[in-house]
Order: sequence, then structure tokens, then C-alpha cells
Amino acid sequence: MAKSLREVLSGSLTENELKRVRAFDIVGDIAVLKLPEELLPKKKLIGEGVLKVHRNVKTVLLQTTPVRGEFRTREFEVLAGEPRTKTIHRESGCEFKVDLARVYFSPRLAYERMRIARMVTEGEVVTNLFAGVGCYSIVLAKHSEVGKVYSIDKNPEAFRLMCENIRLNRVGGKVVPLLGDAGDVVKKGLEGKADRVLMPLPEFSRNFIDIAVSALKPEGGVIHFYDVGEEPDPFSPSIEFLSEKICKKKFKIKVLERRIIRSYAVRCYHVVLDLLLQR
Ligand SMILES: C[S@@+](CC[C@H](N)C(=O)[O-])C[C@H]1O[C@@H](n2cnc3c(N)ncnc32)[C@H](O)[C@@H]1O
Repeated sequence: MAKSLREVLSGSLTENELKRVRAFDIVGDIAVLKLPEELLPKKKLIGEGVLKVHRNVKTVLLQTTPVRGEFRTREFEVLAGEPRTKTIHRESGCEFKVDLARVYFSPRLAYERMRIARMVTEGEVVTNLFAGVGCYSIVLAKHSEVGKVYSIDKNPEAFRLMCENIRLNRVGGKVVPLLGDAGDVVKKGLEGKADRVLMPLPEFSRNFIDIAVSALKPEGGVIHFYDVGEEPDPFSPSIEFLSEKICKKKFKIKVLERRIIRSYAVRCYHVVLDLLLQR
């Protein structure tokens, strides 16, 4: 019978140490661990343990920095298995090539990507301002009747992988990959085109709200605005900010949905607001 990680590690870690080994992400065939300082002396043992327990995992990585910088990337150390950061992740019937050291990717957004896909109606034009390797755009193209998804990213490696992923998932007729700063790309040819705009860059999305509004059709549409929210009220500061900005553009704003996607830290959340903008 397959052993649990706890059973495999129980000879090498104390009960207290075992409690501190947290759940981890599996991306394709790579396990991504975060470990507290006091477990670092035993990191290799833990890595080998993960490899033993998860037969489909070929590489175990330790995340050594937070997600950071404009491209939202992080650094890793290989703990066990094949020394690589590239893999193919399968999600909702799609395949995504990723290089974890060079692009942003999180398997934890799978539900959110499908949630948006379910809202898209036939023939819609969608502009994805921060597309990464194309995950939202490709899930939308596969699972909705979307007409076109303009899919922008500034990271050249994310753009290259997005182009590969569009081919891999055969959605080239619907997803248009665009390399560059979202603001520049929209100003150069995407103003007034979209029924729906995605802004999946919670840390900096506020800087791009004017761009998102200008990407919508003149009559308005929907913006999915991702932000960072804190207790005791994770949504009100975002709504106040948006109301002020959007009123200036002469749109009425209705919050269709607000939800917490996941927790970032104690009392701090990754949130989304679905906004309907109308004249
Ligand atoms: C949090 S990731 C979103 C990834 C993607 N939506 C997904 O589901 O995997 C944010 C992305 O925005 C890109 N980015 C950051 N600033 C940008 C900008 N000014 N214009 C276009 N893309 C940008 C980063 O390179 C990164 O790939």
C-alpha cells in the first residue's frame, strides 16, 4: 500500500517538524515546496520523501524567494529528482508548458479560470492584459463560445510559451498573443474593442484601470479586477478606488460579484471583483 509523506518522514523528522511540513503545489510533474527556516537542514530528506510518495513527481523544488518583480517570478533550489524547472501542466482539458523559474504560473487559479470561462457569451471579444503563458485565454477559448481573446504579456519568455501553448491547445483561431506592455499594446490598437477585460495582476492592477476602461467598447462591458484585500474588509477599499476612477470616465459601475480567491498571508487575500460598466 502507498505510504503517506508523514509515514515516510516519521523516522527522520520529529512530531513538531512533521506538523510544519505544509501542503504544496504540484505543477505538471514538479512539486513546489515552501519550508520554514527550521526545516531547511532537513530539506533534502523532505524532497526525497516527496519523490517517494508521489510517483508522478519527477522533480522537487524548494521556493527560495517570494514571487517578485514585474514578471512575477520566483527562484528555486532543486531538492530531489531531475534538475529542471520546465514542465507541462494539465488543467481543465488544456495543457500549459511552463518554466517555473522564468514565468508566473499557479495551479491554484484553475477554478477562477473556469469561473470566468463560464461567464463568457457567444462571440465576445476579450482582452487579457496580463496573460502569462496564456492560461486564462486558452481556458476561455476551449470552454466558451468566445470570439477573440487578445492576450498580452510583457515577459518575452511568457510570450514565447504562450505562443507554444496556443499551438498545443489548437486555439490559434481565437487567441491572439501580443508581446509588450499592456498600456502600450492597448493604446496602439486595442482601444474600444473588448466586451470583457481581464486584469490578473493583483499587486499592480490599480495602475492599469484607465487602460482597462479604454480597452472596453464605448458602450461598456465587464472588467475582472484582481486586487489584494485585507481584513477586516477585503473589498471596500477596492470598490472605493474603482468607483472614483470609473465615474471619472462617465461610466456607471455595478459590482456583479466579489470573491476571495485565496489567502496570501495572515488577514491578507487575493480578491477579484467582477464589474459591469454601463453608460
Ligand atoms: C500574475 S501573472 C498572471 C498570469 C496568468 N494570468 C496566469 O493565469 O497564469 C502577471 C503577468 O503579468 C505580466 N505583466 C506584468 N506587468 C505587465 C505589463 N505592464 N504589461 C503586460 N504584462 C505585464 C507578467 O509578466 C506576468 O506574466
